[in-house]
Amino acid sequence: MSPIVLPNNALVLLVGISGAGKTTFAAAHFAAFETLSSDTCRALVADDENDQSANRAAFEVLHLILHERLRRGRFTVVDATNLHSQARQTLRGLASRWRIPVHVIVLNPGWAVCEERWRTRTDRHFERKVLQRQQDALRSTLEQLPNESYEAVTVLDSAASIAAATIVRR
Ligand code: GTP
Ligand code: MG
Repeated sequence: MSPIVLPNNALVLLVGISGAGKTTFAAAHFAAFETLSSDTCRALVADDENDQSANRAAFEVLHLILHERLRRGRFTVVDATNLHSQARQTLRGLASRWRIPVHVIVLNPGWAVCEERWRTRTDRHFERKVLQRQQDALRSTLEQLPNESYEAVTVLDSAASIAAATIVRR
């Protein structure tokens, strides 16, 4: 598989349902400060990365830091599900203000893998129907992405392709 090529000033949106491996992928391929995580921002404002009541504030914090990093031309990865077109549009809007190329990497190891991780993880406590809604949203997202203007969209659609992925920065 050819490497995913990312410019040094890119904004990278990871896309995937809970358990897809976004945070694991980010930790493997990007430096700590390059990754802005919605979970970390929820924890920063509410001491609990699962506290959905902290969503609005968490994304305000994420957008504020993202804006500043993009203004400085710093390579940045957004680790969030990014399954809603409105959320992606907001992120694209921030990038376009500074003429920053936006790259998307979809992590989709498949429903069975994500459901198994949902059942066995101890750090996530939400109902199965929430995961199913995310899976529906992923299906819509995969249809919508070609019509949203990105520099590039990479879809890793198996656990093997996620594990084998390599990244080149230029
Ligand atoms: P949310 O933060 O809930 O949206 O999930 P996420 O997409 O960030 O998934 P995360 O990286 O936290 O991975 C979920 C679980 O799957 C963790 O227990 C990881 O250890 C495991 N996991 C993630 N990627 C891999 C992988 O490539 N191989 C294996 N074996 N386990 C993985
Ligand atoms: Mg995560």
